[in-house]
Amino acid sequence: LGNNLALTPQMGFNDWNAYGCNVSESLIKSTALAMHDNGMQAAGYQYVNIDDCWLTHNRDSSGRLVPDPAKFPDGISGTAAYVHSLGLKLGIYEDAGTMTCAGYPGSLGHEQTDADSFAAWGVDYLKYDNCYADGVNQSGGGGPSAQSRYTTMRDALAKTGRPIVYSLCSWGRDNVWTWGAGVGNSWRTTGDINASWGSMLSIFHSNVGLASYAGPGGWNDPDMLEIGNGMSATEDRSEFSLWAEMAAPLISGTNIANASSTTLGILTNSRVIAVDQDPLGKQGVEVASSGGLDVLAKPLADGDVSVALFNENSGTATISTTVGAIGKTGASSYTLTDLWTGATSTTTGAISASVPGHGTVMLRVTGGTTGGGGGGSTTGEVHAV
Ligand code: GLA
Repeated sequence: LGNNLALTPQMGFNDWNAYGCNVSESLIKSTALAMHDNGMQAAGYQYVNIDDCWLTHNRDSSGRLVPDPAKFPDGISGTAAYVHSLGLKLGIYEDAGTMTCAGYPGSLGHEQTDADSFAAWGVDYLKYDNCYADGVNQSGGGGPSAQSRYTTMRDALAKTGRPIVYSLCSWGRDNVWTWGAGVGNSWRTTGDINASWGSMLSIFHSNVGLASYAGPGGWNDPDMLEIGNGMSATEDRSEFSLWAEMAAPLISGTNIANASSTTLGILTNSRVIAVDQDPLGKQGVEVASSGGLDVLAKPLADGDVSVALFNENSGTATISTTVGAIGKTGASSYTLTDLWTGATSTTTGAISASVPGHGTVMLRVTGGTTGGGGGGSTTGEVHAV
């Protein structure tokens, strides 16, 4: 979306994965403070996002949304003021139907009123969901299309004049990736994630082929991170590696104030974050995939290429590729930096690693010139230059 926001994928927190409907001002404030103090804010996490269930069930006599005063005694504006005082930004949740997924008032038909409320309260980010859009709890029958409903809110947000990141929670409906870049800063490509290996893997498979639709200001969104919520540390590192390689929004969905040092270490790995946040803004592509062993390549702004060697199977395996296959050529020697350990090595062309079951080895490849398979030619994709 040409609103000059999310020129790199948005980073932040959202309460839904860890807390469901139990959102409150105190949770949002304590999470923001924890992010401020534990290194996440310094690592680039900026948005503290409220999900569903922040509302009361009725609009006021002027038709405006009413935050639940028991959950948000200082309102959204008071919560925003605190979050802003820490140098962070506040996000909120609404829905492009008659109700939110949890049954609170939706924004369909109230788009300008609600956008004006968000702007007046100091909201910086809107996650816009897709429930109750045609009386049958989802899009696809009868009512206005997802594209038209999401476009109405896009225009309402623009009219407020406040910079508000616009995240389409569109579940991949109506091939959202084909129109998402003109409407939002990111678009959900799948149904909801949960904290399991199977869920994470299937969402990865759905999202990885959509690279040609992503770029600065508009990203494929494979849903929020489940790091710290129940997968193994190896699987958590795989999620973070793959989401970064796919230039996905990095929205933590865990209990941040109580996060373990392992979880925080994953979420704040600056080398992996730099891949996600690379200003070239290309989503990585699968340059090889066979028998559950995948090689992804993502070209970076400085000419380096980030490579993810991902083992979908349960046993340890060696995954191999070459500098040519990931789009590099022209040097007698290349440097490989392991983004999880920081170790460096050199190669004349072979790239190979032993990868534990469900694990990912991430390497940054430096040297030579770039412009072959890593841009996606081996999967037949076309990329703008
Ligand atoms: C949908 C969304 C989730 C979450 C819930 C809230 O399922 O996809 O991410 O926002 O609604 O009810």
